[in-house]
Amino acid sequence: MFRIGVLVSGSGTNLQYIIDTIKQNKLDIKIEKVISDREAYALERAKKANIKTILVDRKIYKNKLSDKILEELGEDLDLIVLAGFLSILRGRILEVYKNRIINIHPSLIPSFCGEGMYGLKVHQAALDYGVKVSGCTVHIVDSGTDTGPIILQKTVPVYAEDTAETLQERIHQQEYIALEETIRLFAENRIKIEERKVYIK
Ligand code: GRF
Repeated sequence: MFRIGVLVSGSGTNLQYIIDTIKQNKLDIKIEKVISDREAYALERAKKANIKTILVDRKIYKNKLSDKILEELGEDLDLIVLAGFLSILRGRILEVYKNRIINIHPSLIPSFCGEGMYGLKVHQAALDYGVKVSGCTVHIVDSGTDTGPIILQKTVPVYAEDTAETLQERIHQQEYIALEETIRLFAENRIKIEERKVYIK
């Protein structure tokens, strides 16, 4: 069985989608643990689904946060999924899980990403720039912020009447699909990474 850990910080709708997809027997994997760096509704979703939850408070662990998360995850999971996780992972966890940590970002990287670019700010920046398409990106996590190799992207149109909220909602729907597809590719061992390029077998 392909075993994953999910890191969260927020409402956890991406996590919920994965939970539901597994329940519907569409994804043959197990979520072993859900870890949050703060009190978050995502933890409630995990508890309701009988998944082990752990709070590793960023305010308590500070620069030891990543090491504590690694300790809680253990070193034998197949994949770590960052589903709305707001802290930056550093140090040993990036080596132990090299090329096995993925993040979902709500824009088409390399646009509207990097430090401080999260939540509605991303969508507001896309609207302010006047782009006509936006979307989401699933990528490998490396030591930078949103800099790792891109696995897949989904696009959505941007409409003149969009607000950051309406654009966010349209992109959210694509995030769910992108994350499901990516996890399945990993579970089927179809992801190959060379240099900084991702090949899908
Ligand atoms: C998503 O927009 C994701 O792209 C970003 O954080 C948000 C998490 O949403 N990294 P949710 O908590 O899964 O609802």
